[in-house]
Amino acid sequence: MGVTTVTDVRPSSAEQYAPGVPPGDAGVLHTLFRSEQGGHEQVVLCQDRASGLKAVIALHNTALGPALGGTRFHAYASEEEAVRDALNLSRGMSYKNALAGLDHGGGKAVIIGDPETVKTEELLLAYGRAVASLGGRYVTACDVGTYVADMDVVARTNKWTTGRSPENGGAGDSSVLTAYGVFQGMRASAQHLWGDPTLRGRKIGVAGVGKVGYHLVGHLVEDGAEVVVTDVRDASVERVLAEYPQVTAVADTDALIRTPGLDVYAPCALGGALNDVSVPALTATVVCGAANNQLAHTGIEKDLADRGILYAPDYVVNAGGVIQVADELHGFDFDRCKAKAAKIFDTTLAIFARAKTDGIPPVAAADRLAEQRMAEARRG
Ligand SMILES: NC(=O)c1ccc[n+]([C@@H]2O[C@H](COP(=O)([O-])OP(=O)(O)OC[C@H]3O[C@@H](n4cnc5c(N)ncnc54)[C@H](O)[C@@H]3O)[C@@H](O)[C@H]2O)c1
Repeated sequence: MGVTTVTDVRPSSAEQYAPGVPPGDAGVLHTLFRSEQGGHEQVVLCQDRASGLKAVIALHNTALGPALGGTRFHAYASEEEAVRDALNLSRGMSYKNALAGLDHGGGKAVIIGDPETVKTEELLLAYGRAVASLGGRYVTACDVGTYVADMDVVARTNKWTTGRSPENGGAGDSSVLTAYGVFQGMRASAQHLWGDPTLRGRKIGVAGVGKVGYHLVGHLVEDGAEVVVTDVRDASVERVLAEYPQVTAVADTDALIRTPGLDVYAPCALGGALNDVSVPALTATVVCGAANNQLAHTGIEKDLADRGILYAPDYVVNAGGVIQVADELHGFDFDRCKAKAAKIFDTTLAIFARAKTDGIPPVAAADRLAEQRMAEARRG
C-alpha cells in the first residue's frame, strides 16, 4: 500500500453495480468502497445552482482530528475525474498530516470548472457554506487554482478556512516554512548517509527557483553548500544569482541532473521529476525537494533504491506549508510553526531507519509510519 494514484477505478464486468449504470460512475464507487486505495470516511457532493458551484469534499480519515487539506479549482474533463482526484488527494493528505505530527486527518476539496471563467464571489461564498455544513470535520486551505484572496472570501462563511491573508488572521505565503522543512529533510539525509547533518561542501542542484526553491537556496548557501540552479523562467534564475553570486546556473533540468559530482538533487518545480529517463541519468546520491508527486509512477522508488540513491519522500519534507495552515486555527505563530517544521529532520531520519530495518524504500517506510500513527489514534 502507498500514497499512490487511484487507477483501479473500473470494476470488472462481473462487478458491475447495476444495469444501466455508466462504468465511470460505478468505477468511482468501486474505488470508494472496495479498492485498497479507497476506505474514505465521507465524500460530499456539493451543488449551488444559483452560483454554479459544483464541488466534491472528500474526508479520508479523521482518526487524528478534523480533516485538513486544500481546495483545488480545476476544469476537470469529467465529474468522475473530479471525484477521483478528491479521493486521491484527500488520501495523500491523511499520510502527510500524520507524518507532519499534526492532529489532523486528511481531506481535500475540488471545485469543478475553469477558475478563470467560473470563479465568482458568489460561488466562493456558496463553497464556504458547504464547508460550514460539515461543522468543522473539514478544514480547508489553498491549492492549485485557489489563492489567499479566495480563502479570505470563503472564510466569511465559516471558521474552518485557513490560507487567509495576514490582514484576515491568516499566515500568508507558506513557501518560507516549506523551504525550511525541505532543508531539514536534506540535513537528515546528510546525517543518514554521511554521518553529519550539514550540507557544507556538498554540491546541491535545485530545479525550480520559484517561491520555495528561492528560499531553499538561501538556507543551502548559508550552510556552506555549493549550489547549482535551473529554472524555465530567466527572471527566477536572475533573482537568485543577483542575491547569491556564488551560485551557478545551468540551462535546464536535464543538464542539472547530469552535473558531475552532484550530491543532492532538489526538485522544486513540477511533479513527475523522478521518471524512467531522469533516474538512470542522475549523478546525485540524494533526492530531496519540495515538488509534490515527484515519483512519476509506482516502482520508481525501487529504481532509486537499486541505484543506491537515497530518496527523502516529498510529502514528508514539503510539509512546512500544511504545518503553517494548521497553525492558523490557533492564531498563527511563526516561531511555533518553525519549531514544528524543524521536526521534519527527526521524522526523515526515522523513515530512513525504518526503511533500513524493514528492507523497503523510504517512501514505503513513510507510508507504514503514517498508517501506524493513524491506527494508534483510531484505537485511542
Ligand atoms: N509553496 C508551498 O508552500 C509548497 C508546499 C508544498 C509543496 N509545494 C510544491 O513545491 C513546488 C514548488 O512550489 P512553489 O510554491 O515554489 O511554486 P512556484 O510556481 O513559485 O515555483 C516553481 C518554479 O519552477 C519553475 N519551473 C517550472 N517548470 C520547470 C522546469 N521544467 N524546469 C525548471 N524549472 C521549472 C517555474 O518557473 C517556477 O519558478 C510545487 O511542486 C509545489 O506543489 C509547494
